[in-house]
Amino acid sequence: MQSEGIDSSKLEEIEKTATSKINTAPDNESLEEVRIGFLGRKGILTLALRSIGKLPPAQRPAIGNQINAIKQRINTLIEFRKNEIADGGGDEEPYPGDPSLPGRSCWEGGPHVLHKVLREIKAIFYGMGYSLAEGPEVELDYYNFEALNFPPEHPSRDTQDTFYVNRDILLRTQTSPVQVRYMEKHKPPLRIISPGRVYRNETPDPSHAAEFLQMEGLYVDKNVSLADLRNDVTYFVHALFGSNARVRFRPHFFPFTEPSAEVDMTCFACKGEGCPICQKTGWIEIMGAGMVHPNVFKYAGYAPDSVTGFAFGMGIDRIAMLKYGIDDIRRLLNNDIRFLSQFWNGPVSEVQD
Ligand code: DAH
Repeated sequence: MQSEGIDSSKLEEIEKTATSKINTAPDNESLEEVRIGFLGRKGILTLALRSIGKLPPAQRPAIGNQINAIKQRINTLIEFRKNEIADGGGDEEPYPGDPSLPGRSCWEGGPHVLHKVLREIKAIFYGMGYSLAEGPEVELDYYNFEALNFPPEHPSRDTQDTFYVNRDILLRTQTSPVQVRYMEKHKPPLRIISPGRVYRNETPDPSHAAEFLQMEGLYVDKNVSLADLRNDVTYFVHALFGSNARVRFRPHFFPFTEPSAEVDMTCFACKGEGCPICQKTGWIEIMGAGMVHPNVFKYAGYAPDSVTGFAFGMGIDRIAMLKYGIDDIRRLLNNDIRFLSQFWNGPVSEVQD
């Protein structure tokens, strides 16, 4: 063939001819003839490749690539046709499609944004030496309330609208019961996190859902202090939100800690200037925390004067909303793929669950 002046459209023509010859080759012999005609030592494409040197240098790489790609596709087609012939397909209609086209990509999912945030949070605490503990979602009133120093009939129980199964059994309203369950089975020192689902009889709105995720933290040893609590919480906030985030503790009340605090961090939206999201305070609440109440140690079977400890509890949904600027907690439960797929890109920590 006259290979001078080879160009892209000529190559396309060549490929078309080759494709149709291959697809209609009745047997291996004629297939081999076609192969030699295009790919053999004096084959059309071999000569075309050799003639590239005659082209202006700027055109050579593109034409070279095109020729190589065609050669590869032709080889694939030939293999495919060989199998067809071997299958007795030689007499059938030629394969109507082009098997060298890339396949359709399959639908692939990704981690839920809550799962992703939880993995990040776990990785941070594992790095600080915490390990994982778990507890049941259907819980005894005893662990959810009584052993956490919520006396029976006490109004503090009303702050957590509870789904009761019966008088003694409920859907846990918090992950705090894992504290007592874990201490019953393990001697100090201990350092655990316990993420999981919790339930409250709330009317859903942008910041409330009837089920959500919490994560509890508990550290018990000799001489654990508020300073240790502040240190771990600050390290966590910096690791998750960046070292510019500031942390403050506000006095609060929880029955199972004394003293108790609510922890705020600088508002992510206005960086502390004050904006509608933080109600102009510059701060956003991220967790409750405090020093474990001696009564809780007693319920767990520890001698309260021999140990001290801190605990904290945070809403994972809330942390995810803060980190990713999500405005409505219900989006995390709706399973709307258009919303969730936004979070499928980017690094997902390899930490085991
Ligand atoms: N369980 C509390 C709640 O759901 C959160 C909490 C506050 C957990 C203080 C703690 C803590 O461990 O020390 O509101």
